[in-house]
Amino acid sequence: MNVSGRPTRTIWPSADGTAVEIIDQTRLPHTFATVRLATLDDAAHAIRAMLVRGAPLIGAAAAWGLWLAIRANASDAALAQAHATLLTTRPTAVNLRWALDRVQAQLVRLRPAERAAAARVLAIEICDEDVALNRGIGAAGLPLVKAIAARKKLGEPVNILTHCNAGWLATVDVGTATATIYSAHDAGLPVHIWVDETRPRNQGASLTAWELLNHGVPHTVIADNAGGHLMQHGRVDLVIVGTDRTTATGDVCNKIGTYLKALAARDNGVPFYAAVPSPSIDWTVRDGVSEIPIEERSARELTHITGRLPDGLVATVALTPEGSPAANPAFDVTPARLVTGLITERGIAEASADGLQRLFSEK
Ligand code: MRU
Repeated sequence: MNVSGRPTRTIWPSADGTAVEIIDQTRLPHTFATVRLATLDDAAHAIRAMLVRGAPLIGAAAAWGLWLAIRANASDAALAQAHATLLTTRPTAVNLRWALDRVQAQLVRLRPAERAAAARVLAIEICDEDVALNRGIGAAGLPLVKAIAARKKLGEPVNILTHCNAGWLATVDVGTATATIYSAHDAGLPVHIWVDETRPRNQGASLTAWELLNHGVPHTVIADNAGGHLMQHGRVDLVIVGTDRTTATGDVCNKIGTYLKALAARDNGVPFYAAVPSPSIDWTVRDGVSEIPIEERSARELTHITGRLPDGLVATVALTPEGSPAANPAFDVTPARLVTGLITERGIAEASADGLQRLFSEK
C-alpha cells in the first residue's frame, strides 16, 4: 500500500542485504518509523513487543528471524534453538508455527553452508505468497459487496464493520479483512467502514483508521461497544474480521471482542464473515474454544493508555485506580455456527469441516 505516495510493505530486506526492516507499529498513528532487525533476538523482540503484529505478518517476521539466526550460526542445534525461541513469542496466531515449520523443514535437508541463502529465499517467498493470498481473498470477497451495493440506492455506501486491524499492517501487504474493502473501494463501489477501536491496544483506532485514511477509504472509528447498537438500527450491512487461527471445523479465533460482534450480527441478521488465508487454518484443531491457546497479555495494556498530547508529545497515562487488578485475554473464539462464511484465497467456504474440505481437499 502507499505511505505518503510511496508503495510500502510492512517488512522488507534492507538495501545493504544485512538486515530486515519493519514499520514500528507501536508508534502509529502518530509517528511513522522503521526499525532494523539484525539478529534473532531483534526479530523475537519485534514480535513479542508487537512492533510487528497480525497473524500473517507474525509468520513473515518469524521466517525472516530464522534467516537472521542462521546467518549467525547454521548448525542443526542453532536452527532448532531459533525455531523454539521464535515459536514462544506469541501463542495464538498459527501462522507463526506454519512459517517456522515450513522454513525449518526445507533447511534441515541442506548442508549448513547452504542454509542462509536458502532461508532468505524462503522468507521472500513467504512474503510474496502472503500478498498473493490476500489479493485472492480480495477477489473472492468483492462479489459480497457488489451484491449488497446492488440492493442499495445509487451511491449509497455499503457499511462494513471490522474489528482489530486485519489490514495491510497485519500482513505483508493488502490485508485480509481489508482485501475485500480495498478491492471494492478500488473498483469504485461506495463503501464506508465502521472501525472498532479494539481495546485494549486500539489496533482499530490506531492502525486500521490510519491505513484507511491513507488509502482514502471513508470510515468512522467507533467504541467497541457501539457495534450492536449500529446493527440494531440497520447501519451495518456486513461484518468482516480477520483471524489468528481458524479450526478445521470453521471456528474463528480472532482479537478479543470478535465473538461479541458475531453474536450481535446473528441477532440482527447481519452477515458475519472472516477473511482467512490458508496459512491461518489450523488443520489439527477441531474445537476452537477448548483447544486454541489464548494469549494473556500484560494488565498494563488495559490499565494504561498511550496518546498524543496537544504539544505533540506522545505519553502514556493511567486509566484505572492503582491497585485494581486487570485481566487481558487477547483473543476469543467465534464458533462456526455464528460465521456466515470464510473468505479464503480459493473462494468463500461455509464455516464447517465440509465447507473447508470442499475448497482444500488436499488437507
Ligand atoms: O494482537 P494482534 O494485533 O497481533 O492481533 C491481530 C488480530 O487479531 C487480527 O485481526 C488477526 O491477526 C487477523 S490479521 C490479518
